[in-house]
Amino acid sequence: MLILGLSGGLGHDSAACLVHDGVLVAYAEEERFCRKKHAYGEPPVLSLLNCLSQAGVAFEDIDLIALSWDPQKAEELGILEKFKKHPVLSGKKMPTIISVSHHLCHAASAYYLSGFDDAVILVMDGQGDDISTTVAYGKNEHIEVKQEYGISQSLGFFYSIVSDYLQLGASGEGKLMGLASYGESVYDFSVRLTEDGYEIPIGEPDSSLGLEDKYNKLTRIWMKEMYRKFGDPPKRIYSNNTLYGGLNYTVEYSKKHKDIAASAQQALEDTIVHLCQQTIRQGNSKNLVIGGGVALNCTTNGRLERLGIFDEIFVLPATNDAGGCIGAAMIASKERSVLPVKGRLKTPYWGISYDDNHISEVLNKLGLKYNYSSDICRQTAELIDRGKVIGWFQGAAEMGPRALGNRSITASPASYDSYVKVNQKIKFRESWRPLAPSIMDEHADWLVEEAQYSPYMLKAYTVKEERRQAVPAIVHVDGSTRPQTVRSEVNPVWHQLIAEHYKLSGIPLIMNTSLNTRGEPVCETPYDAIKTFYTSAMDALAVGNFLIEK
Ligand SMILES: [Fe+2]
Repeated sequence: MLILGLSGGLGHDSAACLVHDGVLVAYAEEERFCRKKHAYGEPPVLSLLNCLSQAGVAFEDIDLIALSWDPQKAEELGILEKFKKHPVLSGKKMPTIISVSHHLCHAASAYYLSGFDDAVILVMDGQGDDISTTVAYGKNEHIEVKQEYGISQSLGFFYSIVSDYLQLGASGEGKLMGLASYGESVYDFSVRLTEDGYEIPIGEPDSSLGLEDKYNKLTRIWMKEMYRKFGDPPKRIYSNNTLYGGLNYTVEYSKKHKDIAASAQQALEDTIVHLCQQTIRQGNSKNLVIGGGVALNCTTNGRLERLGIFDEIFVLPATNDAGGCIGAAMIASKERSVLPVKGRLKTPYWGISYDDNHISEVLNKLGLKYNYSSDICRQTAELIDRGKVIGWFQGAAEMGPRALGNRSITASPASYDSYVKVNQKIKFRESWRPLAPSIMDEHADWLVEEAQYSPYMLKAYTVKEERRQAVPAIVHVDGSTRPQTVRSEVNPVWHQLIAEHYKLSGIPLIMNTSLNTRGEPVCETPYDAIKTFYTSAMDALAVGNFLIEK
């Protein structure tokens, strides 16, 4: 049975996957192809085509379509209608379409790909199908939902409102987490821990409202509360961007603002830890699976790991809404009596691998000068060691928002200048935001305390005191870092690059951030990589086995 899973019904992060007889065989995210970050309002059509090509099947071979949202609850966004009416699908017979509740999709994506035989499953996001937090248990192929929280209790929205108040944008949760490290937790938020969970007693939007209206109403209630508690937010100072066009803005953060960020992070962490401790008391499992967008909060994930109450914690790299389509297809498979095949995700690298023939054709068409390298890892490592910042494009793209060594920008972790250059002249990010490393898994304890395998850059650790001076580019202000630990059996080329850098410098890690500039999705094709290279201050681009230098 071939099932097409689709994400994107909530208006962002649309994606497609194919599950064949319970096994994930293809996965792609729309933003990589339509070149709009988060693919706002875009139906998952280009990602569908990519999946068909990955799996070598035709649309007509699909037996069933499973949506990771309820189209009744998100009908005003009309993503399903846009999908069905897309010219690419014109004249094609649509298979039966079913929908799976959004949080069950998050839970299933993470649980089935964790490979655990049993697990506590915690799903937290803004909202999906009117649910914002779910506590469930997985046992073999069965998932039982134990507790659900409505939209007014959304930890995702709470964090997003604080982010918006601090002028980081409603989708600036990652920035808020970075800013939190500069402050102290001194403020109380209206998130109360209770005997059986938590509550946010701040007001309920009218249940008869549509999705958008409900969200807007809730946002207004919470933002009003932020103003009441903290007064006016920090000001944006605008200026003409005479270099790239458009408007620039900067925000000066006072101690109070940084403390608000730290307090919000603390409230989020305390609530999640509390929920986890409760599940442990109920004694259902010692494994934890976290899903939904809130699971991107690597500071919380790191704290959960250090807490030591779970034997193992799994977070799917595509824990955001994009990955929900996998759960939708697997649940649909189960409902058609084909049990999803459980097993630990073997690779985060899905999609097309562009070979050297394809890459050289693109380079030649663009009339670019380039060199073939017989040892691209060694040559790139030498450039890194000389303080250069390199675009790195190899194999198939990563699933999820983190670059994991196939679409990365890399530099020496020893060079603070590289940190400044990457933040300010390549990613055009706020100067205070941290950058992360990729480290050989076998040497992870060189860098951090209590090192564990962390292949998806989703857990924060404390950098050893004695290493901080050696790698200033990847240590955050609070001494934390969010490493990717790399095993050669998962990504041999990326591992080899780090190993070459280790041979030259004695440091078994390199800086790693995603290959894109501000506001852009991560690169998909060699053309995207070349464009990103020439519109930023990168020194060289290693694309396949070719090297372009400025
Ligand atoms: Fe979600």
